Amino acid sequence: MEYRIPEEIVEEVRLRSDIVEIISEHVSLQRKGKNYLGLCPFHSEKTPSFTVTPEKQMFYCFGCHTGGNVFSFLMKKENWNFVETVRYLAQKQGIALPEKELSPREKAHQTRRRRWEEIHDWATGYFHEVLIQKPEGEPGREYFRSRGIELETIKEFRLGYAPDRWDGLLQALQSRGISPEELAQAGLVIERERSGGTTSYYDRFRNRVIFAILDSRQRTVGFGGRVLDNSNPKYLNSPETEFFNKGHHLYGMHRAYQGIRHHGFALLAEGYMDVIALQKNGFHNAVASLGTALTREQGRLLKRYTDHVIIVFDSDQAGIQAALRSGEILRDMGFRVDILNLPDAKDPDEFLKTSGVEVFKDSLAKAQPYVQFKYYTIIRSKPSLKDPLRASAPDKAEIVRELAPDILKVSDPVEREGYERFLSLELGLTLENIQRGILAKGPETQEKLGNTEKNLQKQDKSARKRDNISRCANKAQYEPAVVDGGYRAERTILRLLLEGLIPVSYLDDFDEGLWKDPLHKEIYNHLKKSQYTVDGALLNMESDTLESKAAQIMLEEMDISNPEILFQDCLKTIQSQKEEATLEELEARIIELEKSGDLTGAMALLEEIGERLKSGEK
Ligand code: UTP
Ligand code: MN
Repeated sequence: MEYRIPEEIVEEVRLRSDIVEIISEHVSLQRKGKNYLGLCPFHSEKTPSFTVTPEKQMFYCFGCHTGGNVFSFLMKKENWNFVETVRYLAQKQGIALPEKELSPREKAHQTRRRRWEEIHDWATGYFHEVLIQKPEGEPGREYFRSRGIELETIKEFRLGYAPDRWDGLLQALQSRGISPEELAQAGLVIERERSGGTTSYYDRFRNRVIFAILDSRQRTVGFGGRVLDNSNPKYLNSPETEFFNKGHHLYGMHRAYQGIRHHGFALLAEGYMDVIALQKNGFHNAVASLGTALTREQGRLLKRYTDHVIIVFDSDQAGIQAALRSGEILRDMGFRVDILNLPDAKDPDEFLKTSGVEVFKDSLAKAQPYVQFKYYTIIRSKPSLKDPLRASAPDKAEIVRELAPDILKVSDPVEREGYERFLSLELGLTLENIQRGILAKGPETQEKLGNTEKNLQKQDKSARKRDNISRCANKAQYEPAVVDGGYRAERTILRLLLEGLIPVSYLDDFDEGLWKDPLHKEIYNHLKKSQYTVDGALLNMESDTLESKAAQIMLEEMDISNPEILFQDCLKTIQSQKEEATLEELEARIIELEKSGDLTGAMALLEEIGERLKSGEK
C-alpha cells in the first residue's frame, strides 16, 4: 500500500525547511542581491547559473532549466521519492510523522526522543526544586538574590541550581528509574573510564545556576549553567546531540511568542540574563540567540510571529559585529531590522538596572535602521571619519561602496531613497552621485544579464531553434523557437495564478483552448485540480518538467503590480492571436481550394474572411 504523509505535516515540513540552508549542504552558494547563485549540481558548468530565491523558496537553473522547491531539489539530488524526502526533512526539523506509518528505525528514534524529553523535563524539575526549596540550593538563591531576581521570575523561567556535588542529578534521576547511560546520552552526565575497565558517571552541571532552554511547546530542550563567581567557563551549555542543536532555539521563546505578536516586533538580545531582565521589565517580546551568531533557523522561529526585529546586543565591539551579522541574516530573510546600541552599559540587563525602564523605552524608540546603524559603525571605526562631511574623497567613496550592497537590497523605493538622501546629507554629496555610486557597486549579475540579452539578440533564429531542440532532448524542455506575445501572455497568467494574485476560477469561462503551450495547459490543469497557490503548487506536480517550468515562470522578471488589468490584457493578447491564426488558416485553405479548382468553395471562404475582418474592426 502506498504510504501518504498527511498534508498538514507536509506543509509544516515545507514551512520549516529553508531551501537555502538545504541546498547549501550540496552546492556552494553565493548571495547576489535577493538570490543565491552557484554551480548547478544537475549539469556541468563553469559559470554559475543555478539560482536559489529564499523569498520564493525555489531554485532554478538558467542553464539546464531544472527547477523546483526544496522537495524537488532533494528528490533529484538524492534520488529519493517524495515520502523519503519529507521524512528526511521532518527529522531534520524535529517534526514527528504519524506513528503507525513509521518504520521500525523511526519508531526507535521517536521512543528515544520521548525519553529524552522526559529526562529533560525531570532534570528541569530537579534543578528548580533544589533552587527554590532544598538547603543545598542556598548558594543559587543567594546568587539570584544578588542579581535582583525574585521568586516569581525564578518560577516563570523555571530557573534552577545544580548543587556542588558530583552526583546530584545522577542520584535524583536514578531514583526515578533513569539509568546513568541514558543520562549520558542526554548529555547531562559525563562518562568516566575507571582503570579496572568499569565506567562511572558524574554530573555535567555542578555548582551553577541553571537556565532551562524551553521551546515554544514549553518543553526543555537544553540547559545553560552559569558559574556563581567570575571563573571560567562562565556558561556551560548542553552538548549538541541528536535532539539538541543550539542554533535551532531562542532563549525565552516559550514566553515571548505571545509578546512578539502583541508588540508587533521581537527584541533580540544576546544573553540569558538580558532576556530575563527585559521580560521582567515588561518586554515580553524578548528572546536571545544563546550567544551564537543568529542562524536562519532561529530567524524562521521569529518569522512565525513577526517581520520586525530590534536587536539589542552587548555594546562592546563583539556585540556590534554580532548585531550586524545577525541583522544581515534577518534582512535577507525579509525582516525589517533595527539595531539599538545602549550607551554606558555593557548589555540590556545592566542598562535596565542603571538607567531604568523609561530611559530604555526612549532608547528603543531611537533604534536605528540596519543601514544607518552600519553607517555609524563605519564612521566610528576610523578617526579620519570622525567628521564625515570633511572626510577625504576616497574615504567617502569607500563608505558608499561598503553600504551599497545593503542599500541595493532594499526593494521599497521610498525606503531606499531615504538611505540615499541620508548619505547625501551626511557626506555632503549630491543625491544623484550617491545613487550613481551605489549603482556602480551593483551586483555584477546585472551586467551579466545585460550581456546575455545582447547575445540572445545576436543569435539568429535557427541557432536559437537548435539550442531549443537540444534542450528538449536534455530535459524535455519545451520552448517555442520564437517567443511570441501569446506565449508570454500565457506565462504571465500562470504567474498570476501561481502567486495567488488571481483566482483559478477567473478562467472557468474559457475552454482549455486558451493554452497554446501544452506545458502551460498542464500547469493550469494542475492548479485547477489541486487548488493550490504558489505555496503548495509545486508540491505535487507529477513531473520534473512541469516543476521546472513552473519554477522558471516564478523566477522570471515580470511586473505583476496590477494583476487584474494585466490579466485582462493577457486575455486580449491571446484572443487576438487566436483570431489571427484562424485567418491565416482560412487563407491557406483558399489557396488550396483554388489550386484544386474548387472556386466556389474558395469564394465562400473569402466571404467568411471579409465578415470576420469587418466584425474585428468594430
Ligand atoms: P554574556 O557573557 O554577555 O552573558 O554572554 P550574560 O547572559 O549577559 O550573563 P551575565 O549577565 O554576565 O551574568 C551572552 C550569552 O552568550 C552565551 C550565553 O548564552 C550567554 O547568555 N555564552 C557566554 C555561552 O554560551 N558561554 C560562555 O562561556 C559565555
Ligand atoms: Mn551580557
